[in-house]
Amino acid sequence: MKSPIIVDLKFPPNAVAKALTGAFPGRDVINMADPAYAGRDLSGIDYALVWKQDPTLFERAKDVKAIFSGGAGVDHILRVGGLPEHVPLVRLVDRSLTDRMSEWVVLQCLLHLRQMPAYLKAQAERHWEELAQPEARDVTVGVMGLGVLGQDAARKLKVMGFHVIGWSRSAKAIEGMQTFDGEGLDDFLAQTDILVGLLPLTAETRGIYNKALFAKLRQGGALGKPVFINAGRGGSQVEADILAALHGGVLGGASLDVFETEPLSPESPLWSEPNVIVTPHAAAASDVVALMRHVEGQIARHEAGLPLEHVVDRALGY
Ligand code: NDP
Ligand code: OXD
Repeated sequence: MKSPIIVDLKFPPNAVAKALTGAFPGRDVINMADPAYAGRDLSGIDYALVWKQDPTLFERAKDVKAIFSGGAGVDHILRVGGLPEHVPLVRLVDRSLTDRMSEWVVLQCLLHLRQMPAYLKAQAERHWEELAQPEARDVTVGVMGLGVLGQDAARKLKVMGFHVIGWSRSAKAIEGMQTFDGEGLDDFLAQTDILVGLLPLTAETRGIYNKALFAKLRQGGALGKPVFINAGRGGSQVEADILAALHGGVLGGASLDVFETEPLSPESPLWSEPNVIVTPHAAAASDVVALMRHVEGQIARHEAGLPLEHVVDRALGY
């Protein structure tokens, strides 16, 4: 008998229901979005696939042996709490999600490089004026977070001609790229014209993109002023400091996909800030069908006695 799987994904319910059709063959799927399962006994079940799970879920599902995250980040899951302590938490690593994120990052770097916010404004005003535009090779993009997403984005930025450097907690050797570890943050920032944030949200990275950090970015590079791009998590940025840095000439622009509070309030000044591009946490949405294939694959590994992949280090929080 195959253990059932509990699914508690706060994603659009129709997309989840559709992706579950035919998923997990031979296994009962307990989709918590279905009211029919409201009072279901969840004891004795080995697996749970969750995103922003119900806070009491693991009081009911106390026998789970593996928990799967509906996304690459796990802060939404850890924040709810109540997770059984020694049960592995597996995050999502998926080709499609990685490709989509790199598309977004490369797009944003090119938009700022080629001054598209200024050209769109000029177009709206029917104003013809050619602006100075440096080449990608003259611009250094500093990627904060060299994990699955950061490394892929860095590689694709290099293909576009940017000079790319990277920073991560532990030292990395990546061919053709200068990298910095935790200690080297100031040296990394001093060379950076476009800062790309692809960090997970943890106790250490909360509020890391702040006034003090922006002040250490290179001034007077090919773009004149540095640009801040964040698709990691909004909890890592201090929005009041971003606005102050833009107003004070410390930053020349920004692209933000994530926010301290989501959805971003209609009242936020970020919506109408010149040279700021806002997207609604849409850089790389999880493809729900790919998510089911990923979880099926991990369960198959587990049941074949192989180790689970992409297991979160609970102490580090990612
Ligand atoms: P990974 O776990 O593969 O990589 C995380 C990277 O961040 C690693 O290089 C890690 O360093 C580094 N890091 C973590 N903490 C620190 C720290 N304190 N100081 C320096 N470096 C640190 O994650 P992914 O690349 O898969 O994803 C990154 C994040 O992107 C996710 O956690 C999620 O928040 C966000 N995301 C956003 C999406 C969107 O649509 N906007 C979609 C998907 C993900 P080390 O290598 O040394 O461990
Ligand atoms: C994720 C996200 O972490 O969509 O996967 O933000």
